[in-house]
Amino acid sequence: MKMIGKRLLACLLCAVLLLGCGLFGAAEDAPADPPAASDTAPFRISCTINGDPATQRGFCWYTKAETPSVIELTQADGTPADAAIDYKDVTAWEGNYMHQALATGLQPGTTYTYRLGDGTTFSQPGVFTTDNKDGQVDFIAVADIQASNLENFRRGASTVSAALRTLPTAEFMVNLGDFTNDSTNEEWDYYAQAMDGVSLQTTLAPIAGNHDGLGVWHWFENLFCLDTSESVQNLNGVNYSFEYGNVHIAVVNTNDLLSVSRAQLRWLRNDLNSTSCDWKIICMHKSPYTLGKDGKWPDAMYLQRALTKVADDCGVDLVLSGHDHQYLRTKPLKGNKLDPDGTTYVLAGTAGTKRYEVRPFLANHFLNTSFIDALVVQRDGWANYWDGEDWEQSDPRNVGGCFSCIRADGGTLTLNAYILADAADENGGEVITNVDTLTLTKPVGQNQPTFTGDNTTSKAAFYLDVVPSFLALAGYTFGEWLPKFLLMLPELIKVYAEEGIF
Ligand SMILES: [Fe+2]
Repeated sequence: MKMIGKRLLACLLCAVLLLGCGLFGAAEDAPADPPAASDTAPFRISCTINGDPATQRGFCWYTKAETPSVIELTQADGTPADAAIDYKDVTAWEGNYMHQALATGLQPGTTYTYRLGDGTTFSQPGVFTTDNKDGQVDFIAVADIQASNLENFRRGASTVSAALRTLPTAEFMVNLGDFTNDSTNEEWDYYAQAMDGVSLQTTLAPIAGNHDGLGVWHWFENLFCLDTSESVQNLNGVNYSFEYGNVHIAVVNTNDLLSVSRAQLRWLRNDLNSTSCDWKIICMHKSPYTLGKDGKWPDAMYLQRALTKVADDCGVDLVLSGHDHQYLRTKPLKGNKLDPDGTTYVLAGTAGTKRYEVRPFLANHFLNTSFIDALVVQRDGWANYWDGEDWEQSDPRNVGGCFSCIRADGGTLTLNAYILADAADENGGEVITNVDTLTLTKPVGQNQPTFTGDNTTSKAAFYLDVVPSFLALAGYTFGEWLPKFLLMLPELIKVYAEEGIF
């Protein structure tokens, strides 16, 4: 009854806010068919960041039949790992059975192999290495594979695979959301099938996109075993944070209510102020600075007002996001102005095949083009590159999926963005082009935490916050966004008439 009440309340709120995520489907249907032997085979396997990456990992997998959950965890030499594994109850979810477990007490800087199963039938072995706390970290970031068929999921997987080969020292992978297009069982199975080899090679830090759930709340937290201890706002994604090396990463769910609610911003501010890491990064799906098709809507643009304020105040170095299927990096910004001490925003391009044109009407209405330092529009067969003044400088190189390789080492953070060509070169070789490089430097050991309290958002606080959060968005939408949108409208209509895009 409690769950039904919660769902009804949340349903009503989303409908009122017109930021709906589709229809709300039935949540928990057990399989109708009796279990068969093959139904005990694990699928949709993931190993995720969950808490301290030096000592913990989360695991999730599915089975067709209801089976026990068993994880075989060993060190590289084959000896059983001396770690505790906390299994959650096996749960019927969307026609399958969901298994989740949290491994704790792992040794830092140690490589482990694992198999997931029921004690008889197991997955192929996977591998991960815990953070050795040496202050250096390498990771890769991808976004918006958002495929519907196996072929396109495989092309997205090729991008991820190229990323791991480009940065073989990557300790984990950030996926900035929109794993799938319609979030159906079929699509998640295609995703898992295409990504199988990759998923078993690394640890994933997943960020929910607006397409990852589409009408079924809690899909995301039932696909990946994540730390949900601090935030209750997990209808269409999960807010969580972790520290890897000298980097604090806060993951923000931008799919509920306002893209970000007041409760989320409060959590984010406290979270970013609780770390002594020198580098602070926010990862989320929607982008505050974009020239893509979603840049014109109030939910995305609200980030430019509300989230950037937290980034400014908390000394965030880098914000990684997706949603708009093009690569765009800003110069450092603070207070929505150019500032060398500000935050760099990177819209990470798409690792998949769905690529967005520039919406020129956004320029200087919702995005001051003097903010742009790099722009790559991944059009099929060719790309537009930012030349410092406009994006009409096309490059005929073959363009495919985009990925970013990030390294934080002491006082230097670098990000290199690459494009994997859709087609091979004349010798049949893979073509990977470095399209952007960002280098940030700072003195280390300067950061002291200013928040040491309990950052848990209670359910009561979350629900009490909904109306003020809605009013904040309504105030922004009608007071700031709408006048700008109306001013931009003639240009939008002109572009639509000439190019058929809006
Ligand atoms: Fe999206």
